[in-house]
Amino acid sequence: MHSTNDIRRAFLDHFGQNGHDIVQSAPLVPYNDPSLMFVNAGMVPFKNVFTGLEAPPAPRAASSQKCVRAGGKHNDLDNVGYTARHLTFFEMLGNFSFGDYFKERAIELAWGLVTGPFGLDPNRLTVTVYHTDDEAFGLWRKIAGLPEERIIRIATKDNFWAMGSDGPCGPCSEIFWDHGPQVAGGPPGSPEEDGDRFVEIWNLVFMQYLQEQDEITGNLPRPSIDTGMGLERIASVLQGVHNVFETDTFRHLVGASEDLIGAKAAGDSLASHRIIADHLRSTSFLIADGVLPSNEGRGYVLRRIMRRAMRHAHLLGARDPLMHRLVPTLVSEMGQAFPELTRAQPLIQEVLEREETRFRQTLDKGLRLLDEATANVGAGGSLPGETAFKLYDTYGFPYDLTEDALRARGIGVDRAGFDAAMAEQKTAARAAWKGSGAAADSEVWFDIAEREGATEFTGYAATGGDGRVVALVADGKEVTEAHAGQDVILLVNQTPFYGESGGQAGDSGQITGDGDLEIAVNTTSKPLGRLHAHHGAIASGTVRVGDTVHLKVDADRRDRIRANHSATHLLHAALRHRLGEHVTQKGSLVAEDRLRFDFSHPKPLEPDDIAAIEAEVNAEIRHNAEVATRLMSPDEAIAAGAMALFGEKYGEEVRVLSMGRLHPDHGRSYSVELCGGTHVRATGDIGVFRIVSESAVSSGVRRIEALTGEAARQWLVTREETLKAVAGALKTGPEDVEARVAAMIEERRKLERELSDAKKQLALSGGGGAAKAEDEAVAGVRFSGQVLEGLNPKDLRGLLDEAKARMGSGVAAIVAVNEGRGTFAVAVTNDLTSRFNAVDLVRAGVAALGGKGGGGRPDMAQGGGPDGANAAEAIAAVRKTLAGEAVSAA
Ligand code: ALA
Repeated sequence: MHSTNDIRRAFLDHFGQNGHDIVQSAPLVPYNDPSLMFVNAGMVPFKNVFTGLEAPPAPRAASSQKCVRAGGKHNDLDNVGYTARHLTFFEMLGNFSFGDYFKERAIELAWGLVTGPFGLDPNRLTVTVYHTDDEAFGLWRKIAGLPEERIIRIATKDNFWAMGSDGPCGPCSEIFWDHGPQVAGGPPGSPEEDGDRFVEIWNLVFMQYLQEQDEITGNLPRPSIDTGMGLERIASVLQGVHNVFETDTFRHLVGASEDLIGAKAAGDSLASHRIIADHLRSTSFLIADGVLPSNEGRGYVLRRIMRRAMRHAHLLGARDPLMHRLVPTLVSEMGQAFPELTRAQPLIQEVLEREETRFRQTLDKGLRLLDEATANVGAGGSLPGETAFKLYDTYGFPYDLTEDALRARGIGVDRAGFDAAMAEQKTAARAAWKGSGAAADSEVWFDIAEREGATEFTGYAATGGDGRVVALVADGKEVTEAHAGQDVILLVNQTPFYGESGGQAGDSGQITGDGDLEIAVNTTSKPLGRLHAHHGAIASGTVRVGDTVHLKVDADRRDRIRANHSATHLLHAALRHRLGEHVTQKGSLVAEDRLRFDFSHPKPLEPDDIAAIEAEVNAEIRHNAEVATRLMSPDEAIAAGAMALFGEKYGEEVRVLSMGRLHPDHGRSYSVELCGGTHVRATGDIGVFRIVSESAVSSGVRRIEALTGEAARQWLVTREETLKAVAGALKTGPEDVEARVAAMIEERRKLERELSDAKKQLALSGGGGAAKAEDEAVAGVRFSGQVLEGLNPKDLRGLLDEAKARMGSGVAAIVAVNEGRGTFAVAVTNDLTSRFNAVDLVRAGVAALGGKGGGGRPDMAQGGGPDGANAAEAIAAVRKTLAGEAVSAA
């Protein structure tokens, strides 16, 4: 028997041997196609090649492409588990000719494989062609020798294939396998065609046209070939079963859930086991390709699929979360062909377990409500839309889960009522928001958010991609188009541009589109926390709502921002290590050219601390450990050691960033933080980290500014250049600058001392215009008064002490005049302090100098003022005071 893995290999080998390049499956999320939710066919990654926008990787290629059909044009979700061949996730085997071979060779290659290596009985094969395609009809006659009655002309869209409403398309020819008369159903085109007897196994599309909004608008540059064969379907044929769920992969997956739950896949339980197996595949592959459960867009499709499976696990009696325990079986089945699945295994398990644990908290209550609400509803009846809405809103039941839950009882759901309840809730939310006093100019954002939902951010994985313009805002109002020369804020359904938040600067870059549209995006903001608003100036062309545009982030700038953001996390951890656990983030700025980090700490950092913190961050950088991101509930994140950041609002799920080496004791990474920002892949990408300033922000809050990478290097270079310039001026080398400057400072001190002495000597000798001290007698007391130009005030005290010694008993007063200013000091020998207080004498004199006050002790006091030119009057005032005192004392 052929295993599914063998069949995939045989297919690729067949086309490899026939001159095709074998291409790895592209990720499920088509970042380059905003019209599609998920890749839904093998040709999707080659869409631009068919239309001539991109050069082909080779003239011929073949792949086994992962596909999900659970949203948008091709949606199989409702049927899965209940039919023999619908799956939400499947692999499409395909061969492609990009303007190389066309119909004839395509039919030869296909017929050659099914009747050759696959060994199918030609008598059980039937084909269809588009009703007007005589050429294909003739080729099947010629190549396969099929009788005319087994080449069926089909007039409907079934034989005209299109990827979506926009893109390449063309007539097609399908190969059907007849499972035999024991299975109900008729050949294609017959009234019984929907039965499972004749199953389409391979679709050969003769790609010729381009369509827009379901209308053919032109020819492809060259006729091409796109084929698609569902791997699971061909596996069922080759394994002799007529249901995809009976093929090896699914038998193993169903077997695993039977074992874990202890419930056989039979009777009523069969569909549940099958749904679990299918949904396990789609959810695991979506998570591996970067989709995470959320309440909008792709994330919500994922959540719907997951929860649908989780209800079936519950229905089968699984007491504990089941899905994550099935992942190892899936990885052993498919991990070899899809290494991304193996790589993402821990993430997949974590996400599934968390979602299932959480959903189980409301599942029971929701189901009880559902039972009560339908207790009196019989088959053919329907559940009120309001109840379905309550289940959605309060119990987390996606609409299709409710529908699925009632399916077995033949009960429907009132969709219109559900939609009305949803609309009513939105109106109430708007009213509440308006009443909250939010700024009027943000109403435009509210309108857009309500209509379009959150912008999907694709920028964790990519810096480029396509998006569909959903709104344009100019001068605060929504417009439908904008032209060259205008400033416009542009919103798309999905973007790689990061919107400014959490301290991280918004991305800048370029948006281009049809014609010569070119918009320079200066920055990206994040109104309401969920829209990414690109602020741009239109350089050329016209942009309209509905256009598909190409978005390209300035990736170099983003890399610098990444490095600064990751360095901020390392800095935070290093601060806590060095200074203590009281350090918490109080704010941060992550820009392209620098980072700023504010944190709680009571006093300035010592230079030793700064040096140690910088060294520790650089050691982590050099260790170059990978940066890991996981998604958790806020509580789990904090339990895992993440620091909850001040002032941040978190939704029900948070991203947890782990960075740096694992700690030997607790096994946690050096840094664990909640963060929605963009980060380096490994710490080594930061390059080098340099703290350039440490300062106070407010009491108890310090700020560090730092640089990384090239900016840090530039900073160091500038410092080095300054040092070299200084060394040059000192006529020495940088290594001798320090000693040289120390010597110069010492030299300067010496010179200052000498200069001061010289000035003193000069003053005392009467040079410099000063009067020489002449002792005089004032009212019987010896008095010496002097004005000394250029005397250093420091020398006053010494000179007065000398005067007192000389006089034995008396009063000495000196004014030192320096740069116009007078410093005035008076000394009184101890025997006279009972009669004259030096402080009073100084006070009497400073007025003349234009000063006030003065202070000291009774034997020595000092004061001063700006009017040094009046020094002689200050001395005279002392003299006068002495005389007056003497008179009054007499
Ligand atoms: N693109 C074609 C399909 O999906 C082959 O059926």
